[in-house]
Amino acid sequence: MMPQASATQGDQHDMTMTLRVNGEEHTLDTQSDTPLLYVLRSELGLRGPKFGCGLGECGACTVLVDGRPLRSCIVPASSLRERDIVTLEGLGTPQQPHPLQQAFIDEQAAQCAYCISGMIMTAKALLDRHPDPDDETIKQALTANLCGCGTHLRILRAVKRAASTLREATHDT
Ligand code: FES
Ligand code: FES
Repeated sequence: MMPQASATQGDQHDMTMTLRVNGEEHTLDTQSDTPLLYVLRSELGLRGPKFGCGLGECGACTVLVDGRPLRSCIVPASSLRERDIVTLEGLGTPQQPHPLQQAFIDEQAAQCAYCISGMIMTAKALLDRHPDPDDETIKQALTANLCGCGTHLRILRAVKRAASTLREATHDT
């Protein structure tokens, strides 16, 4: 669907667009250059992805787009129409957490928790492709996600625990 421009200013303009987030379609009026993160948090009320650096450098805002991690603070939402966007809220619920969410709880991997949504979404993309990653592979996948609290070892344990749970679930089916 082509965007409907209603006003122009430089190379940005108001537009109406539809985004598919956590399996639901949302039609929104926004600026063509508004970062996805702002749309998710301010328009859709999804507070999983966090604003950290706003420069694509910390990973706090990471979401999945078509299964791949994406830094939502630097990508215009308007460029992601027709794509499958998943945030932390799309993985599980407090009543039925995703194995990654449960593992982060079990390992008490969060201190301030600001980085955790981005860590989990990045780990989700990793485990979808590598169900049995070794420590080095996990560290490599998460190396660009910053944690100022220094809970890296607990995060590593949480990802390994989740990988094990997911593998067991696969064998049981
Ligand atoms: S807030 Fe997006 S990478 Fe830091
Ligand atoms: S737990 Fe605080 S930044 Fe990672």
